[in-house]
Amino acid sequence: MREVNQSSPLEFILLGVNGQQEQEYFFILFLFIYPITLTGNLLIILAIHSDVRLHNPMYFFLANLSLVDIFFSSVTIPKMLASHLLGSKSISFGGCLTQMCFMLALGNTDSYILAVMAYDRAVAISRPLHYTTIVSPKSCVLLIVGSWVAGITNSLPHTLLTAGLSFCGSKEVTNFYCDIASLLKLSCSDIHFNVKMMYLGVGVFSVPLLCIIISYVQVFSTVLQVPSTKGVLKAFSTCGSHLTVVSLYYGTVMGTYLRPLTRYSLKDAVITVMYIAMTPMLNPFIYSLRNRDMKAALWKLFSKKIPS
Ligand SMILES: *[C@@H]1O[C@H](CO)[C@@H](O)[C@H](O)[C@H]1NC(C)=O
Repeated sequence: MREVNQSSPLEFILLGVNGQQEQEYFFILFLFIYPITLTGNLLIILAIHSDVRLHNPMYFFLANLSLVDIFFSSVTIPKMLASHLLGSKSISFGGCLTQMCFMLALGNTDSYILAVMAYDRAVAISRPLHYTTIVSPKSCVLLIVGSWVAGITNSLPHTLLTAGLSFCGSKEVTNFYCDIASLLKLSCSDIHFNVKMMYLGVGVFSVPLLCIIISYVQVFSTVLQVPSTKGVLKAFSTCGSHLTVVSLYYGTVMGTYLRPLTRYSLKDAVITVMYIAMTPMLNPFIYSLRNRDMKAALWKLFSKKIPS
């Protein structure tokens, strides 16, 4: 039964964390994280597009990852900041669903691009002679478009299912944004099917993780066949930074959503917020600071502005 009054459209309250002091801390944290995320990722895109030496699949994928990261953090953080500043924590049901839909789509697309990047490295290292034919410009575009399509495919069904739920009790979301687990917990409809679909969604979300693991096994087995310490170290350092992001990302998502919904607590909400805010911020640093070509391109980008 839907107890929605025509005169008062369904609205949710994004409570955030408990306590005024904690709210304040999070506000300051996001206030720092968001500009750093935007700047870092924009710089990566600019540096890659302005340096012809970086016009190859690996960097195009990285630029695409940065683009998704910009969208990903922009779906949640500005709203959190605005809510805090304006003191109005309400969000319409439509706004809530839109936020959820974008979050899921972008989060999934992000993970597919990470998988594409791992696949690209695996081909480059284990089949260097065939690299240009396998990772051709056409297949690059296909891989990127495929990542977006796969991301949206793992978002729309969940959003539509949630849109069909009734909310007749509390509308207070104990989180900074509308995430699927928080909304399911508030619903007074039968959510068994929704929860099953959510677990299935996490399963689908893990497919790219599997691709990443297979790619790395491939990389390491190739590298270890060639007894060169330098090559091994280089592979470990490149893949090491990639693996750091991936573990951070999957660790938080799976730790949060693969548990019974009743155990979904404020602590989980805080952890997902950290992942939503931190991963897009850390990506540029993890991928660029260890990379000589990327650093050179960034340097060029800055020195171009300064007439010598
Ligand atoms: C994303 O990848 C495609 C295909 O490689 C490339 O043409 C495009 O420029 C990339 N997007 C960005 C923002 O770099």
